[in-house]
Amino acid sequence: MNILLLGSGGREHALAWKIRQSKKVDKLFIAPGNAGTALEGSNVAISVSDFAALKDFVVAHEIQMVVPGPEDPLVKGIYDFFKADPSLCGIPVIGPSREGARLEGSKDFAKAFMQRHQIPTARYQSVTDENLPEGFDFLDSLQPPYVLKADGLAAGKGVLIIHDLSEAKKEVREMLDGKFGAAGRKLVIEEFLDGIECSVFVLTDGNTYRILPVAKDYKRIGEGNTGLNTGGMGAVSPVPFADSAFMQKTEERIIRPTIEGLKAEAIDYKGFIFFGLINVKGDPFVIEYNCRMGDPETEVVMLRIQNDLVSLLESVAEGSLHEQHLREDPRSAATVVLVSGGYPGAYEKGKPITGLSDALLPDTYVFHAGTRALADGILTDGGRVLAVSSCGSGMKEALAQSYSVISTLHFDTMYFRKDIGFDL
Ligand code: AMP
Ligand code: GLY
Repeated sequence: MNILLLGSGGREHALAWKIRQSKKVDKLFIAPGNAGTALEGSNVAISVSDFAALKDFVVAHEIQMVVPGPEDPLVKGIYDFFKADPSLCGIPVIGPSREGARLEGSKDFAKAFMQRHQIPTARYQSVTDENLPEGFDFLDSLQPPYVLKADGLAAGKGVLIIHDLSEAKKEVREMLDGKFGAAGRKLVIEEFLDGIECSVFVLTDGNTYRILPVAKDYKRIGEGNTGLNTGGMGAVSPVPFADSAFMQKTEERIIRPTIEGLKAEAIDYKGFIFFGLINVKGDPFVIEYNCRMGDPETEVVMLRIQNDLVSLLESVAEGSLHEQHLREDPRSAATVVLVSGGYPGAYEKGKPITGLSDALLPDTYVFHAGTRALADGILTDGGRVLAVSSCGSGMKEALAQSYSVISTLHFDTMYFRKDIGFDL
């Protein structure tokens, strides 16, 4: 079959790498892709949100499955766009409907959904211009720190954690005044939960689900989890504290009620669900839902899935996921992200990357995140540039392998965290 994968990051290179291994695949296209995805299939210069151009491409190239990597096309309704078009409606899009994608696209929707289905999450209050006094009363009732979240997509920058009450109230006003644009005209105030986070991924066909390997990502730019939030600086899988007791609670209290809730509300959802969880004294709470895989978690999760991914995705589309048994590699996987100096602030692009052809060890994969190929070499093309990913008999071995490969890689201003996994 011919598959079109959407996106251009490390997640998409890892997905392309895994899809490429399936015997079911004839042609794999990636729109728009990066220099790494071009090694697994053919890149196509179409934006993930240009549905009209995607349609033309899908029809012209007899695409039989579309796999969106990032949230943007899903939140914009690519699933519904395909369903509503007579020439596309037979082609599965792996992901939720626009309504289902609101689990990620609207924090207010996600919190209300969890409340309706008694799914454990931080207490909250949604605020707009209309009910500001209620929002301030709620803030008064909380202990610091205070968590403020823009309702809509804000490219990972819409969450503020503030220690001072009057500062928090000032921020609420500024968000309502448009600090995060339209995304923040509505916001969610949350109680702060103290614990350690992990990422749980589920594949669902709308009826049943399969839990994928659990991962933990490292979001802060600095070692010891300090400094600004980024898209993710590294990840490991499995996660020692996500043991069978924790996962049993997660399945009973969170995963099952989520799938049942979607079904009860007749929300079409056939794809990945990413549960951002926090472990508070052994109990799981949902910090956020995402309607896609995580990045860089995908770079470790794909290394540990032994199934044919395309066969799993076909079952999702056909509603036969109950026939599939998920097989996990018992080994550990780890990824370390190499970023451009300055990221997550301003950074330069176009730096030549050296050492890529030397960076070859068995069980190590250099997934490209922000790269661009020229005739005579590969250049940096984003904040996150490469995700150096390895498997090993334990987390330490996997990390040692990734760091050893990193020592052979170079680009001007390259930065990475040397402490991935430090807290486990
Ligand atoms: P989100 O975009 O909702 O995942 O939030 C970004 C980050 O903010 C999370 O990964 C957490 O580290 C932190 N965070 C969000 N909500 C809370 C909360 N209620 N309590 C503690 N930390 C939170
Ligand atoms: N690594 C977190 C995310 O993909 O949102």
